[in-house]
Amino acid sequence: MTSLSSLLKGGLLLPIIQAEQPQQAVAIAKAMQQGGVTAVEVVLRTSAALDCISAIRSEVPELLTGAGTILSAADARNAKAAGSQFLVSPASTPDLLKAMLATELALAPGVATPSEMAMAIEMGLTELKFFPAHLSGGVEMLKALSGIFQKVKFCPTGGVQLNNMAQFLALPNVFVVGGSWISPKDLVQQQNWAAITELALLSVQQAEQSRI
Ligand code: 3PG
Repeated sequence: MTSLSSLLKGGLLLPIIQAEQPQQAVAIAKAMQQGGVTAVEVVLRTSAALDCISAIRSEVPELLTGAGTILSAADARNAKAAGSQFLVSPASTPDLLKAMLATELALAPGVATPSEMAMAIEMGLTELKFFPAHLSGGVEMLKALSGIFQKVKFCPTGGVQLNNMAQFLALPNVFVVGGSWISPKDLVQQQNWAAITELALLSVQQAEQSRI
């Protein structure tokens, strides 16, 4: 199984796309890409989400595109069939992890507690989404976990914003940060793609500076 970090090739941002129809998703994806984003997570929270993944794969093929909010075996299978290159879940259960592993795609399953982390490690998974990052203890929690789960790298999401992403990315056990801050709902509704590109540019800049 390929790891998500190897697919990301050093990319530090994994913004979420939540879209009501495929052309909206493509517009958001293009706006993000123009701002330097190289990977996106399309969340399965709208009825069009799978079609959005397929549309981005065909119209913005250079963008690494995965599916988020995987909550069932069917979600995992459908996301793969739609063309997802990786899968992200907000939660982990043994059955969900088995179903995600069965797709043979790169994975970042969601965890928030040491026990969930231990379960994911038992199943061979060491790149995990830390969700909801801010409410689960944020940067301090990740620091506390680093000595115990030395092989785990995290993708914090949930409450990650332009003003705190650099603190997360400065941690050695964080390989990428995710969230919705680059495509806020109001900008999407206004079709303000230029503003999304601007937020992406600022975020990419901050991300790069945080790693220096
Ligand atoms: C996720 O699916 O990772 C979260 O919804 C992201 O949370 P945010 O909206 O606080 O960025």
